[in-house]
Amino acid sequence: MADETEAASYASAAALGYLGNIDASFVAQFLRLGLTRGTVLDIGTGPGLIPLKILEQCPTLRFVATDLSDAMLALAQQNADAHPHGAAVQVEKADAKQLPYANASFDAVISNSVLHHLPDPAAYLREIARVVKPDGVVLVRDIRRPAGWLLPWWWRWFGRHYRGQMLQSYQDSLRAAYTKAELARLLAQSPLRACGVFAWRLTHIGIRRGFSRAGRNN
Ligand SMILES: C[S@@+](CC[C@H](N)C(=O)[O-])C[C@H]1O[C@@H](n2cnc3c(N)ncnc32)[C@H](O)[C@@H]1O
Repeated sequence: MADETEAASYASAAALGYLGNIDASFVAQFLRLGLTRGTVLDIGTGPGLIPLKILEQCPTLRFVATDLSDAMLALAQQNADAHPHGAAVQVEKADAKQLPYANASFDAVISNSVLHHLPDPAAYLREIARVVKPDGVVLVRDIRRPAGWLLPWWWRWFGRHYRGQMLQSYQDSLRAAYTKAELARLLAQSPLRACGVFAWRLTHIGIRRGFSRAGRNN
């Protein structure tokens, strides 16, 4: 029993370490897009850790961190309250498919690991295009669904950090995620302009637009 408990806590520490590194890579990717001032909208912020990690490196930004889940919003608020840069984060309830913000009201929109949760990804991209300034920064990133024949291998290799419910959620999420070609089609059908689709390592894909005008940093 002691071994089981130890193994479970090791597995969960390993999973948290792995997820922490993935968050850090999102933060680094955002910082490379070059925005240092203004207000950033985070859609589907979950525990709100990504805005706080960005603020640790770029304290001149401000964030509106949004989610639809009351439990996540409470956690995001708790994390902001406990953080030295937390005052720069406003936590608000908002639905990704119908955001309660005016057109062109944000200097940047970020969203990590949300796309595969949404039954209507077109509405999400439409709302991002509407609320970000025309030359604003965009960074949307999510896990990537591999070709069907690769899935069992993918589960075993990239799921090796997870156990139990976490592994099950990872497998469900992978099934719901998009391929790079599917994401490129979604982007082409959306009103987002001057954005590029990228792959990050084998495991993630996304849409980005840099700070310089008209996607010069893509
Ligand atoms: C996997 S979590 C990602 C959390 C965070 N972005 C991160 O990377 O740590 C997905 C989040 O999306 C939120 N979400 C799902 N559907 C949403 C919607 N329609 N509008 C806003 N948030 C949503 C969930 O509540 C959850 O917090």
